Parts: sequence; C-alpha cells; structure tokens
Amino acid sequence: MKFYLDTANLASIRKYNQMGLVDGVTTNPSLVAKEQGVFEEIIASICKEVNGPVSAEVVSTDHDGMVSEAKHLAKIAPNVVVKIPMIPEGLRATRTVSSMGIPVNVTLVFSANQGLLAAKAGASYISPFIGRLDDIGQRGMEVIEDLVVIKRNYGLKAEILVASIRGPQHVLEAAKLGAGIATMPPDVMEKMMMHPLTDAGLKKFLDDWNRAKKEKPSLTV
Ligand code: E4P
Repeated sequence: MKFYLDTANLASIRKYNQMGLVDGVTTNPSLVAKEQGVFEEIIASICKEVNGPVSAEVVSTDHDGMVSEAKHLAKIAPNVVVKIPMIPEGLRATRTVSSMGIPVNVTLVFSANQGLLAAKAGASYISPFIGRLDDIGQRGMEVIEDLVVIKRNYGLKAEILVASIRGPQHVLEAAKLGAGIATMPPDVMEKMMMHPLTDAGLKKFLDDWNRAKKEKPSLTV
C-alpha cells in the first residue's frame, strides 16, 4: 500500500520522507490556508521534496475555470496531480484535463457511484472521504469496500486514494481491503509507528544493560 501525507506542511513532509514513508502528498485549499507563503511556491517546494504525485486543488467551480487552473498547476512541476471536485462541471473538467495528459484526482467523493463516474471521466485517482462519512453516522469504509470490488470487476485504472483518514485503524482497514493508497495527516502516521510495548521494551533493555555495566565492569561494547 502506498502512503501519502495529507498536508501542505513542508517540515512534516520532510520528516516522514526522510524515513522513506512518503509515496506522495495530497493538499486541499483548507490545508494550504494553514501555511504561509505563495500557493504555487508551496506546491513547488513539496514537489521538489517528494518524488511521487502531489495533489494541488483547483478553486474554480466551472469547467473553463478548472481547466485553466489545471493547466497552470501542471506547469509547477511534473509530479503535480490536479485535484478536481466531484461535481458535474468537475467531471467535464476531469475529462478535458485528463485527455491533455494531466493526471486528475477527483476529490470529495462520498459514494461508490461517484467514484465509478470519476473513473469513467478519466480520473487517475479517486478520493473517497471516509472520515467525513463516519462523522455523519455512515460507515465510510463501505465506499472503499465497494470501490475495491468495482475496480477489480472492471480493471479500472484509477487508483483508490482513501482520504479523510482519522486514525491508524482506518489505514489498517483500507490496507486489508486492498485499497492502493491511503492519504493521512502526519499525526496518524506518527501514531502508526508508536506502541507502548515498544517503548517499555526498549526501556527495559537499556535499564538491564546499564545495570549490568555497573555490576560487571568487564562488560563492554
Ligand atoms: C484528501 O485529499 C483531503 O485533503 C483530506 O483527506 C480531507 O480530510 P478531512 O476530512 O480530514 O479534512
């Protein structure tokens, strides 16, 4: 499974990229709004840091505006993926933009049918927002279950990019279902690597070692 970071914060991206954990990055207008600086420069710096795809979202809601923004964003770096919302004009823009050879990530997907339409329109990535579905009392993971089956049934090329992840359990469930990509906030990646028994185990190893060194001066590394 590929892991993307869902953030526009370069320091966080760099931190986890140095561990070899970052296959790509997703941003959205809310995430970029938390940072300082010029939008294009923020995206350019992320694209330079990460080898994989970096999603940057359009803010127009009409076909021509989205296509014009997409062309502009695609010029920032070769690994830019244009994020387009799952609205009728967005599907039209997805078709136009993807046929220009610019990869598209269709965002704000909340049902398997929406995902199916996005794939048909030419999306390279489909982003179902599972956490936001959970928030309103629906089981977000059901959309992933359905899309994994649909992708397999029809050999869809579009990657399922599990988005709006709220915790390690979401990543685990998506991985068990065979979804291709999970995009997560940095704190979820941090939580995935932590276990209290790892910390307790390491403490005991080091305590035992230091005690033994004091008691047996002949014991050295
Ligand atoms: C995905 O690409 C989105 O940026 C993101 O996952 C949205 O997550 P949220 O529901 O936590 O805002």
